[in-house]
Amino acid sequence: MPSPASTLRAADQIAYLDQAASSDPGRRYKRQLLTALDLRPGHTVLDVGCGPGTDLPAMAVAVGGDGAVLGIDHDPEMVEQARHRTAAYPQVSVRSGDAHALPCDDASVDRARTDRVLQHLADPGQAVAELRRVVRPGGLVALADPDWDTLAIDAVDTATSRAYARFIVSDVVRNADIGRQLGRLLADAGFEVVAVDATVAMFRDYDEAEAVLRMPAVARHAWQSGALDEASARSWLASLTDGPFLAAVTFFTAIGRVPKPRASARASET
Ligand SMILES: C[S@@+](CC[C@H](N)C(=O)[O-])C[C@H]1O[C@@H](n2cnc3c(N)ncnc32)[C@H](O)[C@@H]1O
Repeated sequence: MPSPASTLRAADQIAYLDQAASSDPGRRYKRQLLTALDLRPGHTVLDVGCGPGTDLPAMAVAVGGDGAVLGIDHDPEMVEQARHRTAAYPQVSVRSGDAHALPCDDASVDRARTDRVLQHLADPGQAVAELRRVVRPGGLVALADPDWDTLAIDAVDTATSRAYARFIVSDVVRNADIGRQLGRLLADAGFEVVAVDATVAMFRDYDEAEAVLRMPAVARHAWQSGALDEASARSWLASLTDGPFLAAVTFFTAIGRVPKPRASARASET
């Protein structure tokens, strides 16, 4: 889920994304997002920042053989992996492209989504404006991103928990508080905001959390860069596996619709 993944090499990132998607919180919000997109047979749907293609097969099934699913990612290794994983679905194509300048015509898709992509982008507002450009009037867009500024990890050493969370916000994730902004980004781009939801991704099992949060790797990164004291961080890490564990982060989703032109506006155009 997070972008503690940004500390990983490509193959590890793919494994990381698979683990995050198969965690309980991951499966839950992905199911909700798919339902909210309201895909119908024959739809054309765009997945911007599709990664290794995790969600493309489910969308391919939903739009059927008469529909089309287009995955876009700027990372060639993700594109290759997504193509490999969707080879059995002729309605899926995967292209290399940048979320800030989508390789798609205006009003050419019925649905579009970004899933944990905006947190990484140089200009999330531009990416949402691009979604507005390519989705047809009446079409829907779904955005999902965590808000790392809400990360809470329980430990007796709360000072290190706080310093660790601050490090993620300031040094690890580019747009750490993007989650809370999703509805505003949709409105600013000219979408009608249909829904904004927040859920808590909570982990009470250290191993499940570790698959997503990568605490030792991020903590090492933090002490190497001087953001955490190494001895305190090591004993904080050890304490996390010693007794009940709890970590939680708020995860946001937002659904937008492209307004249809009003009848009077349409009449005056003809
Ligand atoms: C956290 S992963 C999420 C992947 C996928 N959406 C999922 O839910 O499994 C973020 C993805 O966004 C892609 N990405 C980051 N910046 C991008 C950009 N400017 N244009 C296109 N893709 C981008 C990354 O290569 C990565 O595959």
